[in-house]
Amino acid sequence: MTDTTPHRQALAERLVQEGAVVTPAWRAAVEAVPRELFLHPGVFLPEGGRWRPVSAVGSDPAEWARIAYTYDTLTTQLDGHLTADQASEPVAGLPTSSSTTPALVLGMIESLDVEDGHQVLEIGTGTGYSAALMCHRLGEDNVTTVEVDPEVAARADAALEAAGFSTWTVTGDGLLGHPRRAPYDRVIATCAVRRIPYTWIRQTKPGGIVLATVGSWANGAGLAKVTVNEDGTAEGSIIGRASFMQARAQAAAPVAGDLSARTAYADSERQAKLSPLMLDEWMPAFLAQVAAPGAQLVRATTSEGAQLMYLFDPERESFAEFVADGAGWRVRQGGPVSLWDDVEDTLLAWQGEGSPDITSVRLHITDWGHTYRIGDGAALHWQHRLADPR
Ligand SMILES: C[S@@+](CC[C@H](N)C(=O)[O-])C[C@H]1O[C@@H](n2cnc3c(N)ncnc32)[C@H](O)[C@@H]1O
Repeated sequence: MTDTTPHRQALAERLVQEGAVVTPAWRAAVEAVPRELFLHPGVFLPEGGRWRPVSAVGSDPAEWARIAYTYDTLTTQLDGHLTADQASEPVAGLPTSSSTTPALVLGMIESLDVEDGHQVLEIGTGTGYSAALMCHRLGEDNVTTVEVDPEVAARADAALEAAGFSTWTVTGDGLLGHPRRAPYDRVIATCAVRRIPYTWIRQTKPGGIVLATVGSWANGAGLAKVTVNEDGTAEGSIIGRASFMQARAQAAAPVAGDLSARTAYADSERQAKLSPLMLDEWMPAFLAQVAAPGAQLVRATTSEGAQLMYLFDPERESFAEFVADGAGWRVRQGGPVSLWDDVEDTLLAWQGEGSPDITSVRLHITDWGHTYRIGDGAALHWQHRLADPR
């Protein structure tokens, strides 16, 4: 077996140099926890638009150690079932479990502001590597980690044991938290959610912190950090960008099928005031999801090669279709919600305020919903209500 101590030290040093790690205790955790233990039975490496399987067993030990300590996210499962030992050649597929890039994991863990003795709940165990880092820092009895996929959870549990941590690995839907071990001082989600479930707030002590990626678009999610108040509400802000795979129970089914059928009946058509290509930028994409929760961005090309873009909200049977017309874009909208009107109004108001970045977004959570705001005015203020306020 290759001694990976030098790899761990090099990884820790890079994380410190790049500012992801600032606390000595987290540096010590990176230096101590062998990441390779968490990558069994293997990983999928991106190669020419497909995924090349690399098994832990049978690989050259030096090469395996190099892979285990790359700075990248290492995909460990595709399409909700496939592991690297089950494939012999490059395959297509969607990543459904991974060991996230250490820069993001450690950056998030640092943002948790943990203290000795804190009880932490992690949602999205994945390989178990991030749980192991937290066990090293806080002790195995202070970490509870929930993974929705039973096979992933079993592998993570075995890896945690192999690394010497008999922590609480729970198989279940992390959107429900884990009431049996509540209340927690800290909750951290390493999968993205469209909305922070109120149950996480309820399971956190007053003064405790919940840290989670909000947003369902790959480019345009924000890392929310909220502190729980005595009255059971929580408030905080978006502290930066983050990109995680979607929590399985919340992942929207991709919009498929005949797009012309979905857009057959428009209720309005006009020239767009802003280009929908703005949605390729992170902050406009984040704001679009705040302004039109449930909307998905879809691109297509006509048989003549014309570029098409759409916003679809399948649940609310609404669409906006954009067609480039030389001078700009025309937008056709249909359904009960004028998706582009809502998004465009938001983007214009945001530009009017000088286009502040994502860290200007404040978030307030109650049991009846989320309120996002930028500044104190009424224009950049959005309520996502589950029910009327009590
Ligand atoms: C990016 S991976 C986690 C990364 C991991 N913590 C690490 O060590 O780097 C995300 C994981 O979240 C899990 N997941 C997705 N939806 C979930 C849910 N509703 N509850 C719990 N886990 C979930 C996925 O199965 C996947 O294993």
